[in-house]
Amino acid sequence: MTQFAKILNPAIVAPALRAAVAPFIAMDVKREASLLEQAGAGIVHMEVGEPCAPPPRRVREAAIAALGGQPVGYTDALGLGALRERIALHYREAYGVGLDPQRVAVTTGSSGGFVMAFLALFDAGARVAIQNPGYPAYRNIFGALGIEAVDLPVDASNGFTVTAAAVEQADSAQKLDGLLLMSPANPTGVMQSPESLKDIAEACARLGIKFISDEIYHGLTYDQPAQTALAFSDQAVIVNSFSKYYCMTGWRVGWLVLPPQLVRTVERLQQSLAISPPTLSQIAAVAAFDATDELEAVKAGYRRNREILLDGLPALGFDRLAPADGAFYLYADVSRFTDDSPRFCHDLLHRAGIAATPGVDFDPTRGQLALRLSYAGAESGMVEALKRMKAFLASR
Ligand SMILES: Cc1ncc(COP(=O)(O)O)c(C=O)c1O
Repeated sequence: MTQFAKILNPAIVAPALRAAVAPFIAMDVKREASLLEQAGAGIVHMEVGEPCAPPPRRVREAAIAALGGQPVGYTDALGLGALRERIALHYREAYGVGLDPQRVAVTTGSSGGFVMAFLALFDAGARVAIQNPGYPAYRNIFGALGIEAVDLPVDASNGFTVTAAAVEQADSAQKLDGLLLMSPANPTGVMQSPESLKDIAEACARLGIKFISDEIYHGLTYDQPAQTALAFSDQAVIVNSFSKYYCMTGWRVGWLVLPPQLVRTVERLQQSLAISPPTLSQIAAVAAFDATDELEAVKAGYRRNREILLDGLPALGFDRLAPADGAFYLYADVSRFTDDSPRFCHDLLHRAGIAATPGVDFDPTRGQLALRLSYAGAESGMVEALKRMKAFLASR
């Protein structure tokens, strides 16, 4: 066979400017921790918000039954009718809110839902407010889409919550196009009260700000249930997922609830960007809403983990923690140990075998002084983490 010299021009493989997004550090830590594990190290995983429990039995059985021989083809771009209907019923069951299934769009995880929602709502150059510290992917997806992130700082001084007044203030400083709010929040676990959510939805409507409510941690609350923004506004876009409460991270299935006017827009976007969400996962997800007993037992485990850490961490010096109302995270001020949380987390991983995520992933300005621990793992891991942390701190 003739040998040809391969063409070489470095410029043609230079990434586009829009692709210069920051890494999602929690995922980088996960990769590094996995490499150490493959080399034989015992790692306590507290870096990623990932349930250690398998999906509910009914979900697994539904998936197995779906593999019985019939084709696993595309579904409608907006998702399987049966799942859209079951999701709509969930709003009646969980919140007492009626919802037309036609307003539900099933997505590839809530991550796929964000892309659809942001493309449907915002042009390049739009200014969208987000909590800071907040979920890193918001900022990164915005970067790729040319959307400007406007920080709403949350900290001990405001109970790590957003107020309608803070939204109004940000809007009057420079006009906002949107607000993306999560409750319970990542990395803090803090929940907005139903009253504040209502005030914020009203302020957005009054000021012409598009409102997206990320409700992925609903179901995972420890004192009182979370309220959906849909109870206050039919114009809000609701984002949710089967990843967290339903223990289905790897199944990549989530959903949006859309104002009727946006349904066709999202359908057109999803037709071309995804064709349809994963079919097997959609079939299985229908069963997830009827697995409450199993899922509540998993949640009881998170509650125990949370108590173990809330008992043990302050004695080790992690005494400034955001109120852990929900989700499965603790966000700790580590300024008494370090002013370089990435270094601290690196040492924690390599010297103590605890994988944790540095605050800089969530807060580019103040995150050097914080870290996030996920307690979605096994109870034994929490006990082990405290033991290792104590030895690690003593050895520094
Ligand atoms: C606040 C928040 N939203 C969305 C996601 C994305 O979840 P998924 O794409 O698995 O639904 C996460 C994942 O950690 C999250 O913390």
